Amino acid sequence: MKHTQALVIGNWKLNPGTTAEAKLLYSQIRKKVSKNCLATVVIAPPFLFIPEIAKTIHPKIALGAQDMHYEERGAVTGEIGGGQLAAFGVQYVLIGHSERRALGETDTQVNKKVHAALKRKLTPVVCIGERTRDGQGQFYQDVATQIKALTTGLTAVQLQKVVIAYEPIWAIGTGLNATAENVKEMQLFIVSTLTKLFERKVAEKILLIYGGSVKDSNARELYTQGGMSGFLVGGASLEATEFAAIIHATELGN
Ligand code: 13P
Repeated sequence: MKHTQALVIGNWKLNPGTTAEAKLLYSQIRKKVSKNCLATVVIAPPFLFIPEIAKTIHPKIALGAQDMHYEERGAVTGEIGGGQLAAFGVQYVLIGHSERRALGETDTQVNKKVHAALKRKLTPVVCIGERTRDGQGQFYQDVATQIKALTTGLTAVQLQKVVIAYEPIWAIGTGLNATAENVKEMQLFIVSTLTKLFERKVAEKILLIYGGSVKDSNARELYTQGGMSGFLVGGASLEATEFAAIIHATELGN
């Protein structure tokens, strides 16, 4: 079921290049998000910019991180733990982004990260999605496998704190967004897969968002007809006016 309050997350990925540029981009977005904004807006900058951005956080923009490790401490060179993120006011964390999975992250690691994030009261935004679409609909099975793995060991109460971001890999950064019909079908499939694992009333409450070449020009249609409750935005979140227009597309209602 669509949530009344939309969630729009800007994933800056490995952008911009300097703290000064990050602060500038953040302040431009800050100016465009009104205090009465109806959506929940989250910005997920690279780790190193989080402390600076946290200093001027807008009441309507929550801080997100792009990844975390499931260990809190120890011999895991190069990693950042959930406790460290929470200490800087981070509230959301992307987990299992396809660009991390492409570097070797497994479904088992994704599941461990979901548990670790929840322990720290961080909202896990778990990314799932097929690499390509075959004519027979086999790709749905890949998505079902990811859902099963990410939810392993979660109680119904924990599951309701998880956000699932459907990001078909073929639509990421390509300009080829999934159609509203593709998104709607996937929304129904995700709910039915979750219903097999949990109860229907639990499955229907899970906040689902879509990501993959979301822009000002397609946001409204994807939001009203795609059946999902918001967006995970990459490229378009690096341009304040474009990002604000996407947020606005969710504020106009269904
Ligand atoms: P684009 O919006 O650039 O396609 O990226 C989507 C994405 O990967 C967000 O996490």
